[in-house]
Amino acid sequence: MKTLVWAWIGSERDWVPAGEVSVDEGGKRGTFSYRKDYLDRRQAFALDPIALPLTLRKQNSLKFNGLPGVIRDACPDFWGTLTLERHAGRTLDVLEAGILSPPDTVGALILGEPDDIDRKRAWRPPHLATITAMEAGDLNAVSTFLMPTTGLGGTKPKMTVVDDGRIWLFKRGERGDPDDAVVVEHLMLQLASRCGIETPASRVVELADGSGCIMVERFDFLADGPSARRRAFASAASVMNFDQHDRNLSQPSYRRFMQEIRRWCAAKDAPESASKHQKELWRRVVFNGLVANIDDHSRNHGLLRRDSGWTLAPAFDLNAGYGAGRRNVALTMNLVEERSGASIVTMERLIDLAKAVSIDADEARAYVRESAATILDLWSGLAAAAGLAPQRRSFYESAFLFAREIQSRRE
Ligand SMILES: Nc1ncnc2c1ncn2[C@@H]1O[C@H](COP(=O)(O)OP(=O)(O)OP(=O)(O)O)[C@@H](O)[C@H]1O
Ligand SMILES: [Mg+2]
Repeated sequence: MKTLVWAWIGSERDWVPAGEVSVDEGGKRGTFSYRKDYLDRRQAFALDPIALPLTLRKQNSLKFNGLPGVIRDACPDFWGTLTLERHAGRTLDVLEAGILSPPDTVGALILGEPDDIDRKRAWRPPHLATITAMEAGDLNAVSTFLMPTTGLGGTKPKMTVVDDGRIWLFKRGERGDPDDAVVVEHLMLQLASRCGIETPASRVVELADGSGCIMVERFDFLADGPSARRRAFASAASVMNFDQHDRNLSQPSYRRFMQEIRRWCAAKDAPESASKHQKELWRRVVFNGLVANIDDHSRNHGLLRRDSGWTLAPAFDLNAGYGAGRRNVALTMNLVEERSGASIVTMERLIDLAKAVSIDADEARAYVRESAATILDLWSGLAAAAGLAPQRRSFYESAFLFAREIQSRRE
């Protein structure tokens, strides 16, 4: 199966065909080639500067179902595929789901033949008010009948909505999550911002039946009149060429992601420009440890292509890892090395990682302590203001085990 890959080019204010992707029957291997007319455009950008440099040569891909990672990122994941399959009445492979999905995929790529792209050009996200009038159970109905669904990744029910001229990711908890998990995600974004981490705007809204959903402003859409400009995105999984579904691979490390950031984000004339993104990533590792955000898999981090070039995308999908009796915080990604046990957060490992990106040990230690204090000081007040009852606030306290350990070491 093959199809066209379209990229959003700022100067054209439109989708333009960038190349063609094809995958074999079993979805094991695939190829991508840029079109000559794309390479001739002044503003043509490499969809992946390392794996897909701007050349006419056919480029092979053996991971991610045969799709280059950044193209896999532009296809829906669990939830989007489920709703599309329900609509189609049959199972879909990744590429088919990418073609059928709405164009609200993350980043600046969409897939399909010219007719599919005409349909995608005509797509508009629903207005928030249409959605909040519904009950939580009806969200399935919304995605099936109004067919907004989503091209976005992730497992939780979600879609893209417009409110106040801005474009938002709108998401509810999945079955099994506590009802207030979305409130806590919003609080984690607020706390991360107070720890100096770049976060998108977020808020919690109620559906007609009182259940909560989170809205997070899309950082890859620049709402701009009736059309929204788009910024390219590459998940950390793509950046590291790490296929989560390959069980033979051990989890990559933050150290490795930092090395890739150097390759992706360093401007030709200013190699040090990658350094601020590496340092920002380090702050996020610290934050993940302090709130036990253990769902920090490599599609919950990514790079965003801004006017200045590739940068670390704002933080997203931050959760507090509640659960009694845990002795250590074990993240999904390893910290410094890629071996078992290397995902457990300790002050020593955080400092080793800091040194790798030229943050000195004293400065690193001070940041970890200050962030622990910020989180522990602000949590209760923010949670109470967001409507969490005292009992629920203490339920989530177990997430701050490492933060408390840091605080007690100081005393
Ligand atoms: N603010 C945002 N702007 C643009 N894209 C976003 C934003 N937040 C998340 N995304 C994209 O949407 C995807 C799904 O979002 P998110 O991770 O919040 O969903 P999820 O269902 O909770 O994921 P998971 O399966 O990891 O629990 C992300 O992997 C990312 O590619
Ligand atoms: Mg996620």
